[in-house]
Amino acid sequence: SAPDGGSASTFDFIVVSNRLPVDRVVDADGAESWRTSPGGLVTALEPVMRGADGAWIGWAGSADLEIEPFDNDDMWIIPVPLSEDEIARYYEGFSNDTIWPLYHDVIAPPSYHREWWDSYVAVNRRFAEAAAAAASDGATVWVQDYQLQLVPKILRELRPDLTIGFFNHIPFPAYGIYSQLPWRRQIIEGLLGADVIGFQRVADAGNFSRAVRRLFGYETKGAAIQVPLDAALVSVTTDAAPVASKRGAPYRTVIARHFPISIDSKGYQALAQRPEIIARAKQIREELGNPETIMLGVDRLDYTKGIGHRLKAFGELLAQGKLAVEDVTLVQVASPSRERVETYRQLRDDIEQTVGRINGDFGTIGHTAIQYLHHGYPREEMAALYLAADVMLVTALRDGMNLVAKEYVAARYDNDGVLVLSEFAGASDELKQALKINPHDIEGMKSAILQAVHMTKAERGRRMRALRKRVMEYDVARWSASFLDELQRVRDQSPTIEQG
Ligand code: G6P
Repeated sequence: SAPDGGSASTFDFIVVSNRLPVDRVVDADGAESWRTSPGGLVTALEPVMRGADGAWIGWAGSADLEIEPFDNDDMWIIPVPLSEDEIARYYEGFSNDTIWPLYHDVIAPPSYHREWWDSYVAVNRRFAEAAAAAASDGATVWVQDYQLQLVPKILRELRPDLTIGFFNHIPFPAYGIYSQLPWRRQIIEGLLGADVIGFQRVADAGNFSRAVRRLFGYETKGAAIQVPLDAALVSVTTDAAPVASKRGAPYRTVIARHFPISIDSKGYQALAQRPEIIARAKQIREELGNPETIMLGVDRLDYTKGIGHRLKAFGELLAQGKLAVEDVTLVQVASPSRERVETYRQLRDDIEQTVGRINGDFGTIGHTAIQYLHHGYPREEMAALYLAADVMLVTALRDGMNLVAKEYVAARYDNDGVLVLSEFAGASDELKQALKINPHDIEGMKSAILQAVHMTKAERGRRMRALRKRVMEYDVARWSASFLDELQRVRDQSPTIEQG
């Protein structure tokens, strides 16, 4: 329910993420409206928030917008403004040119700039203050992703009565990589402000716990980390030597474990079963010239996705005559992302040059090797593409989960289609009947692609049925329920703290 003044502390459940689940769009006449924004996070949390009596705090996607909180489809939206300078330093800089490449195993080199860090601290404080102002006494606040890792600690200091969850949607790197970060202690202290810290994979949670032990010497027992209660006194601006926790000293328990995220599986299946989507899938096949095999890649245009490796494998298969453009078409959807960050600009140039080369070398008047689409598409078109695709290529070099893999499986109510899946995507832990690949091993990827193209219908059905069993059972509702149950459990065990 919406509060009267819009600023009262009335919400029992609050989600905080960098990006709001809605984007503000202004048309040519200056009229403004709100549209669901792209990204796995939004796809994942929207069904959870819909109908829930909660609020979502986040950035509306453009600079210097002061927007009053408003109601959007049963969801109370509380926008947090970012200035041009903060977009450059906090969002494009520290979030997407420091943390993003660092946490994805330095596929691209991270940049470390103190001004970016300062902006990250200031913006994280703003998000925490917005949550502190909106949360009712004893409310639950669920903070999302790498852009907001300091929010749990700041929020706990402002509002010790709250129950605070944090979920990291991207990988958490091994200590040898994480330790590069000049602010490695502050980030971990920020996260440890939460009661439950969720990760995608068992390995991510393990990497985090190891970093906590290495940097702070806190005791860990399975998923439980014992954070001494006087840890709040440790300054966030120093990089002091690790201190072992004194045995017997009072501590609070923080849970760090994996909660693999999922999608609205039933919703995706229902969408794919709609007659107009099935008709559109047929039309896509026809427009592509009814090739024997349609292969599909769907990614944000990001260097973590292994798009270049995928194109290399495909190009070599064409060059060696193992695939022919008359029989096989690759549709590559690359949705625009973070276009002002230099690494992303460079990636776009590289990919588009490669696509141009392959199409120039192997295309014929009637057949194009790669249909390259630099656009985002609505869910309806995606579902039709998934249905039309005989082979889905997910070749990420590193990926927290990769929801595209799960969307493909959920859409295939017909129990057909082959998923080629990188072992470096979180989805690999669950989707065991996919054809697993190491995208760095180009020969291995080529073999897997050929195996997928030539797989019998019986084997496709057997694998897809098994994949679907997993994806339909472990959907996003189950993900959020298991995270929130764990949060509730931890809350029930810890002593009640009255709001000061
Ligand atoms: C990934 C991140 C999300 C992010 C999304 C889109 O899925 O985990 O936090 O929102 O990419 O990226 P963008 O920078 O456009 O928000």
